[in-house]
Amino acid sequence: MNIQWDAEKYSADFSFVHRYGNTVMELLTAPEGASVLDLGCGNGALTAALRERGYAARGLDGSASQLEIARRDHPGIEFLQADATDFSLPEPVDAVFSNAVLHWIDRNLQPKLLRCVHDALKPGGEFVFECGGFGNNRRIHAAMDRAFADRGFRYSMPFCFPTIGEYAALLECAGFRVEYAILFERPTPLKGESGMRDWIDMFLRTPFSVIADPAVQAEIKAAAVEQLRRELYADGQWLADYVRLRMRAVRL
Ligand code: BEZ
Repeated sequence: MNIQWDAEKYSADFSFVHRYGNTVMELLTAPEGASVLDLGCGNGALTAALRERGYAARGLDGSASQLEIARRDHPGIEFLQADATDFSLPEPVDAVFSNAVLHWIDRNLQPKLLRCVHDALKPGGEFVFECGGFGNNRRIHAAMDRAFADRGFRYSMPFCFPTIGEYAALLECAGFRVEYAILFERPTPLKGESGMRDWIDMFLRTPFSVIADPAVQAEIKAAAVEQLRRELYADGQWLADYVRLRMRAVRL
């Protein structure tokens, strides 16, 4: 996972990502004091929330700019820099927690990530996560696809949004027993009148790498936003069409 983040803007305008993550933590069954790795911890907000719940939590992320903020804002917490698909811990932990991260990993790298998670856990340890699930942001990606195609470009959707069945099979192959899984729609408010444009600017960078001209990029974004305004904007509020996949799996 090698994403260039505008880490300050992410913290300021997309804090809903972490707010929702607090409810994912409720799936952890590890007792207070248990060791927890926050995989893809970003700015460390949820690592700190895990600490507040009494866990011995530390964070791991691949982004130097996110970790700079995490270390600045939470000086008492240990943060490691590593790729989620290529990491190992000196000692195994009781639980691995991850929020809004797995969809950034290529489909063909998911088994590698799950092997790392497996090896980072004690036998009987749990992996609790939420990520974008099958159908996530379907309308947003359809609008982008059309805006690209209308101008002669191909839109390549950069995320992995698995079904329950698909991800359960991967977990089982990697040596886990799936104990809980849910896929549900969660319309998600975006901040301000420019919320959708800001979301596109923040999260859809790689598809634009095929377009050199910034004016064409801007035109595509404007066309997609105009289309989406008819579908995802009402009463002065943008609602992004999020679908979440939440799972809890135990290392055998
Ligand atoms: C998500 O949390 O589902 C998500 C966030 C940004 C881009 C794509 C998906």
